[in-house]
Amino acid sequence: MPLLFFWSVLTCTGLVSALPCMNTSFFTPFSTYDTNCCLVLTSLASNVPANRGFYNASIGQSPNKVYATGMCIPGTEPEVCSACIMSGSYALVENCLIQKEASFWQSNRTLCMIRYSHTSFIGSLKLEPSIDVSNPMDLRMNATDFSRAWKGLTLRMGQAISSNKDTTWSGGRY
Ligand SMILES: *[C@@H]1O[C@H](CO)[C@@H](O)[C@H](O)[C@H]1NC(C)=O
Ligand SMILES: *[C@@H]1O[C@H](CO)[C@@H](O)[C@H](O)[C@H]1NC(C)=O
Ligand SMILES: *[C@@H]1O[C@H](CO)[C@@H](O)[C@H](O)[C@H]1NC(C)=O
Ligand SMILES: *[C@@H]1O[C@H](CO)[C@@H](O)[C@H](O)[C@H]1NC(C)=O
Repeated sequence: MPLLFFWSVLTCTGLVSALPCMNTSFFTPFSTYDTNCCLVLTSLASNVPANRGFYNASIGQSPNKVYATGMCIPGTEPEVCSACIMSGSYALVENCLIQKEASFWQSNRTLCMIRYSHTSFIGSLKLEPSIDVSNPMDLRMNATDFSRAWKGLTLRMGQAISSNKDTTWSGGRY
């Protein structure tokens, strides 16, 4: 119920925000994994802004090791970034009660993102979780042409992100 409520609030405001708790692997409440998960998530609110918008951490020993990453969109004021990460961490702890991996992203005041897992994911491409967002506008373009333009755009975007040398924010690590 809390998750559904959260979703409907986000849907009503038309924001691309989400909190998917992945049902791939589960832990026991109050176990070592649970403790490590809370510890690593609460460390993000101060560390993400202190590390120029991107921070990854891990806590504990296998099989209770928890990996987490937090990031804010470049240019976010440190307080705004911290507040976004903090509300996300709380939301994850409150909503994903037993899931060993979950993500959070929010885009109202700023764009921030959190992800945690029992496996290391830094540097690896992952296409899940995904959220469908419908476009209410008419697509007047030929679908084949649209698809080709879309693939080109996303490919160039990926290359630009990967080769970013901007060190003023943490752009180089996106
Ligand atoms: C995981 O399971 C819960 C409870 O059934 C559900 O609400 C949630 O949407 C599921 N998560 C995903 C990512 O499908
Ligand atoms: C964060 O990720 C980098 C690789 O990009 C790794 O070298 C580093 O050890 C990680 N930090 C933690 C605390 O896991
Ligand atoms: C952004 O959205 C979240 C979730 O709906 C809400 O808790 C928060 O107060 C909002 N922040 C602002 C600045 O509107
Ligand atoms: C879309 O354009 C391509 C060429 O770019 C053409 O082969 C195809 O038949 C067109 N499809 C439609 C539905 O018009």
